[in-house]
Amino acid sequence: MLNNNGYKSKQRSSAASAHICRNQVLVMCFTLMLMLVILFLVFDHIRDSDAKVKSSLAYDSHKQKWNNFDSLVKLHPTREFRNGTDLIWQVPESPKGILFLAHGCNGKAINFWDKSFECPDCVGLPEERLLVLHGLAEGFAVITISSAHRCWSIGNNEVLVVKDILEWWIGERKLEKLPLVALGASSGGYFVSLLATAKKFNSIVLMIAEGMFEEIDIEKDYPPTLFVHMPKDFYRQRKIDEYVEVLKGKGIDVGVVECMEFPLSPDTLIDRIPGMDQHFSRTLFEVFKERGLIDRNGYMKQDGRKIKWRKVIQERINLAIDERLVPHVQEELNLAFAYHEMTSVHSDRIFKWFESHLS
Ligand SMILES: *[C@@H]1O[C@H](CO)[C@@H](O)[C@H](O)[C@H]1NC(C)=O
Repeated sequence: MLNNNGYKSKQRSSAASAHICRNQVLVMCFTLMLMLVILFLVFDHIRDSDAKVKSSLAYDSHKQKWNNFDSLVKLHPTREFRNGTDLIWQVPESPKGILFLAHGCNGKAINFWDKSFECPDCVGLPEERLLVLHGLAEGFAVITISSAHRCWSIGNNEVLVVKDILEWWIGERKLEKLPLVALGASSGGYFVSLLATAKKFNSIVLMIAEGMFEEIDIEKDYPPTLFVHMPKDFYRQRKIDEYVEVLKGKGIDVGVVECMEFPLSPDTLIDRIPGMDQHFSRTLFEVFKERGLIDRNGYMKQDGRKIKWRKVIQERINLAIDERLVPHVQEELNLAFAYHEMTSVHSDRIFKWFESHLS
């Protein structure tokens, strides 16, 4: 009996435990499935936000190549002297607007345009030229003017001179009906923010500059303003935050685009600079790695102006740079560090701003 009982009870309990076991398997299966679903969702979310972070870091847009516009635009600029300064411009077929570009300190109109038959002493700095090419490709007539001195002067006279030049130039070409926009970087940004009080623009872009909004009387018809800036420059970042609120308070349309650092690669200089020697770009990258000038992910540890990269080159045999390309390399190194430099990295968003405020 005992046995039997035992047997029976064992049988019963084993039946029960088989039942429990089946339930456990079910629960486990269910849990596993749930976990898989959750994992999938989490992964998907990470991938998604990762993509967002990446686009804001412009991982892709800084990979825009120097010859991206080759099939769209041919450069045939015209150079003129007027009011003691030089202007260089090009008007595409049936332009939809006019873009005035203002350089920063030490800049000049010749920096925006490639060396060509029409402009033998043009410099074609990598970021400047891409902005011009992008503008022409979008159908803008592009005009660049040199400041009278090293930087733009904020006193009223230069504002009047540039206003005069623009109006004369627009009149000569009978382009009065076209919308007018402006982009100024650094000193050019302060200048454009001021010029916009003397001359009507459809919209403006202030790059790596917070503008002169403490000095100017912001009227209701001040143009829509896009700040393109580098948050690493903490002082300007704070000023821009402040001015964004001031402008919004006056009912002005305001936008902000942040430009972040990006890692150098062996081909960064080849990709961005016309005529860059492949050996130079790749070797320089290796030397930077050896010297610890970039971290293991390729990010610059200091601003391009601070590191003595030209001295580093001089110390290396087999590493020489075409002297004419020194400013070009300097600009890309500054840009990669993203503290204060002209940038075409977000030109998609810049032109979207112009396009959406044309009428
Ligand atoms: C610019 O030059 C034109 C033509 O020489 C002249 O009429 C005009 O007054 C000048 N503008 C300024 C602001 O100097």
